[in-house]
Amino acid sequence: MSEHTATAATSRSRAFAEAVSSGRKSWKQRRHLLDTDDITPEEVKALMHVAAEAKQLMTAGEPPQPLLKSRTIANVFYENSTRTRSSFELAARKLSASVINLDVASSSVAKGETIIDTSKTLMSMGVNALVQRHSASGSAHQMAQVVGNDVQIINAGDGWNAHPTQALLDYFSMSEVRPDLAGARVAIVGDIKHSRVARSNIRLLTKFGVHVHIAGPPTMMPVQLSEMGVTVHSRVEPAIEDADFVMVLRLQLERQKQGLIPSVGEYRKLYRIDSSRMRLAKQGARVMHPGPMNRDVEISDELAERNEMSLISTQVTNGVAVRMAILSLLLGE
Ligand code: CP
Repeated sequence: MSEHTATAATSRSRAFAEAVSSGRKSWKQRRHLLDTDDITPEEVKALMHVAAEAKQLMTAGEPPQPLLKSRTIANVFYENSTRTRSSFELAARKLSASVINLDVASSSVAKGETIIDTSKTLMSMGVNALVQRHSASGSAHQMAQVVGNDVQIINAGDGWNAHPTQALLDYFSMSEVRPDLAGARVAIVGDIKHSRVARSNIRLLTKFGVHVHIAGPPTMMPVQLSEMGVTVHSRVEPAIEDADFVMVLRLQLERQKQGLIPSVGEYRKLYRIDSSRMRLAKQGARVMHPGPMNRDVEISDELAERNEMSLISTQVTNGVAVRMAILSLLLGE
């Protein structure tokens, strides 16, 4: 490495550490990250700044300063995950934390141990933070109430309720395209009712003056829509008209036994987002998807792969940077 390259690397790593140090002033009151409803604009601004610095380090292939070397983080996923769990692990390791990935299927959970007892067991081993995903809505809040004095909780998805780190990485991905999101129009399409991603995004975006339009089958719309500050459409076309971003939700095929839609074919016809429907959106609009995708069900294969229009891979990349930012702001020394 030349002297110039080494100096640039050091200055990027220092800029990241400085962004964390400054950002921690607005994050100092926060112990847990359970949802986006109580996150302040100052916290979001600080997070975006740290994530941008983290992304620069990742792009340059440089390590950050080892801000979490004395911390131990446990990933406890009672539900399947590829993106969230892997990116939390990568983010924690990049920051030099010790990481435990609890294999729930082969743990004592299979013998009936409760989530509280499992957490207490991990805490007794010196775990500082639990990154938890569970199918029960409210489980992260419950954990914070019961064991939150002894361990920090990061909600990696609880039932239908919330997925705050996904919403924050979505926000970061959108603000890379349009730095000032106030006044932007975001369409969220699909199964809103069962989507924690939709809920956390709506709670976050409406806080920043983003106009959120939602569309989906009537059986997949939540009842408390009037409180959410969104515009509701039954057809997809008016929802995506003039949108800056179109966020497509996964059709939760495992729920179709409940008969929420007449058929997958019908859903595809009425709600699938493809390049032709994207022509209704603003020139330069981007399509997003939290993953995992059902290709050619809720999004066309061709659109998912259109790099100039799709932010889907960027969302995954940004997931690591945003989770590095979240971990260092919550747990950094
Ligand atoms: N977006 C998301 O939560 O993906 P995973 O289920 O793969 O973590």
